[in-house]
Amino acid sequence: MTHLIAPSLLSADFANLERDITMINHSKADWFHLDIMDGTFVPNISFGFPIIKAVKKYAQKPLDVHLMIVDPDRYFEQFKSAGADIISVHYEAVTHLNRSVQKIKSMGMKAGVVLNPHTNIILLEDIISDLDLVLLMSVNPGYGGQQFIENTYSKIDKLKNLIIQKDSKAVIEIDGGVDISNAKALVNTGAEVLVAGSAIFKSENPIKTIEILKDI
Ligand code: DX5
Ligand code: ZN
Repeated sequence: MTHLIAPSLLSADFANLERDITMINHSKADWFHLDIMDGTFVPNISFGFPIIKAVKKYAQKPLDVHLMIVDPDRYFEQFKSAGADIISVHYEAVTHLNRSVQKIKSMGMKAGVVLNPHTNIILLEDIISDLDLVLLMSVNPGYGGQQFIENTYSKIDKLKNLIIQKDSKAVIEIDGGVDISNAKALVNTGAEVLVAGSAIFKSENPIKTIEILKDI
């Protein structure tokens, strides 16, 4: 498959959200990436259900919801009814990961697991066959606009090998510091979904930037 582009709304203009959603609808982007932060798992707080519902009202593409919150299982129902199509939980924020993943899938959503930059791929060995997606953080989660961590390439490589070895259907998504300078190398290494926030929304022509990221 050709790789997918998931613009992160964290860098959108929340006073003009409908405009930015419409722009993504009309662009070559594939998913909407929504970053949910609770001020505990990560130092920052982002947004919650009213914003997700507002996005869902206009979005014509799937909502890819990245939960940076402790004990996320408490809220799966609410994320589902707000419009989430894919839910990814952090390995570091969940105690019973198998249960969380099964719960997301039983509710009819796709399930992903996110790894922080320091978390080793091998920890996914006993869950990878159950996953629809693995999201590798290429910055420390919490903020947009941070610098890409180069060690991500070697993690993609290890993850790809694990996926092949376990005959998993999981797709590899990369989040943090992705831009037009590293997108091609990421895809060549094995990335299948690229999240980009500031590279898209802080660019002069977001539609064009999405097209460049998609057509590399
Ligand atoms: C960071 C978030 C990212 C963020 C990426 O914790 O998970 O999705 O929006 O922003 P950029 O692309 O600016 O690094
Ligand atoms: Zn994210």
